[in-house]
Amino acid sequence: MSRRTKIYEGKAKILYEGPEPGTIIQYFKDDATAFNAEKKAILDGKGVLNNRISEYMMLRLGEIGIPTHFIRRLNMREQLCKRVEIVPLEVIVRNIAAGTMSKRLGVEEGEVLPRSIVEFCLKRDDLGDPLVAEEHITAFGWASADEIEEITNLTLRINDYLCGLFAGIGIKLVDFKIEFGRLAVDGGHQIVLADEISPDSCRLWDRETNKKLDKDRFRRDLGGVTEAYTEVATRLGIIKENGNNSNVVSIVKNED
Ligand code: TYD
Repeated sequence: MSRRTKIYEGKAKILYEGPEPGTIIQYFKDDATAFNAEKKAILDGKGVLNNRISEYMMLRLGEIGIPTHFIRRLNMREQLCKRVEIVPLEVIVRNIAAGTMSKRLGVEEGEVLPRSIVEFCLKRDDLGDPLVAEEHITAFGWASADEIEEITNLTLRINDYLCGLFAGIGIKLVDFKIEFGRLAVDGGHQIVLADEISPDSCRLWDRETNKKLDKDRFRRDLGGVTEAYTEVATRLGIIKENGNNSNVVSIVKNED
């Protein structure tokens, strides 16, 4: 691993050059950050769980015709992906009010929204990922109007599919963040889903109890973060049922 060329190190993942041109390797770390990296911790096993959960999401979305950067999982912490140029936007979908939407607009957390809402934030940690309008995106050339339309259409399909997938395992998909990339094809570009979909980037609440099964457990010091991620992976059928959560994580770790 040390001989590989590192392309980029983010808060929760490291990107390395892949074995063939046009590929990269995503390495999932155990590092957790929140509030623009003001709060930090190492959560043992989180990277393993997110690698598996994100693989599962990308594969299921690929099956319904969503183009993704995902090629295959390599081992417990790494996946091989197509190299794309990341569109510098965080695309957020909200089905139920929570987080910054509740704070910004005074909508009570937990209120079901009249329809799913897609928001765009500029990917700029130094500015705190500010919310931007399509006007800003096209005026500053972060994406074209056609790309925004394609991204919005794909995002709504992804949201519909994931809402159903999570409903099937007794989980409400409150909101989530996704990123897209431009994949070079035949002299042009295709917009594809990139990055990851995991409990780090989603709000997931148990349907019956509203128990949080996502990164809010870390943000709000609720404890049991990897246990919650393990529960999501278990309900998805990615890892086997086991009474002892720490055992489940060790099973995942030793699996590959
Ligand atoms: P949001 O409520 O905007 O922000 P916060 O998480 O700070 O309260 O987040 C909406 C969803 O998008 C939530 O599931 C977390 C996810 N998200 C990220 O994963 N990364 C980000 O940089 C942002 C802004 C949101």
